[in-house]
Amino acid sequence: MSKDATLREIAGRVQPAAHWLRWGTARLATAGVPHPSVDAEMLLAAVLGLDRTGLYLRQDPLEPKDQASFRKYIARRRRREPLQYILGEAPFYGRLFRVNGDVLIPRPETELLVEEVLKRHPGAGRIVDVGTGGGCIAVTLASECPGAQVVAVDRSQRALQTAHANGSRHGVAERIHWVCADLLAALRDGYRADLIVANLPYVASGELPALQPEVGAYEPWEALDGGSDGLSLIAALCAAAPRMLVRGGLLALEIGDQQASAVRAMARRSGLYDSVDVIRDLAGKDRMVFLNSLR
Ligand SMILES: C[S@@+](CC[C@H](N)C(=O)[O-])C[C@H]1O[C@@H](n2cnc3c(N)ncnc32)[C@H](O)[C@@H]1O
Repeated sequence: MSKDATLREIAGRVQPAAHWLRWGTARLATAGVPHPSVDAEMLLAAVLGLDRTGLYLRQDPLEPKDQASFRKYIARRRRREPLQYILGEAPFYGRLFRVNGDVLIPRPETELLVEEVLKRHPGAGRIVDVGTGGGCIAVTLASECPGAQVVAVDRSQRALQTAHANGSRHGVAERIHWVCADLLAALRDGYRADLIVANLPYVASGELPALQPEVGAYEPWEALDGGSDGLSLIAALCAAAPRMLVRGGLLALEIGDQQASAVRAMARRSGLYDSVDVIRDLAGKDRMVFLNSLR
């Protein structure tokens, strides 16, 4: 280590949080991480077990073990690992969910899907969440609708383990049936849901390599890859859902912002649905489709 670096190292040992925040922000900025100061704050707050105000009030120097943890977190974020994977959790609809590389990080758009579902179907009796991932939709609906029976399906066993842990964390794991299967294939004949909700993968395979590094390099591709046009799983679910829905039951889908007209056409052609509602997200982009089953 050079003399300057050694002096900086010695000085760092007695510096308060504000010094480490500046250091972390600069390290993230030089790596091109968007919002470096916010990320540095969140990482340091997590290391010290403080909220953001506490961070700015703290005058004591950092313990060596906290310095080491913060350095590791900053190094991971410099490699563009998502903040939520480093912290191990992400907020969704007012609750915290455990996340890891086996599950997609819940997105704000999906909170809108849940909000719209609850508006249209308050307290829906039988609910199926297809492609549950870390369980954010299933666990939220089970929590918000105490009378509902919820089935959560994913074809990834590892995702289901995380989803189950989230169910336990929020006290609803016992009220959810956890099913490892392809779409609706494991539901018995004769089963009828009031509501099927799904945020299935909808990115076209060819677009995956161009995703921002946080997504493409860290989130599971099986949670993103929607086949050549991005619609293969959505199309399969649209075709299969009416068999598993009560008459007038609702299929609620999150979609890619360019997919609404294809999904509308698909639903009309199938003759299985009597209405197709497209709802936009907060950025004004088509983001959700609500289909009412005719059968
Ligand atoms: C976009 S992620 C959504 C996760 C979570 N529901 C959310 O909204 O954050 C899609 C999930 O669908 C699952 N999946 C992909 N293909 C599937 C299939 N054929 N059957 C069931 N689940 C599938 C993936 O494993 C992944 O967990």
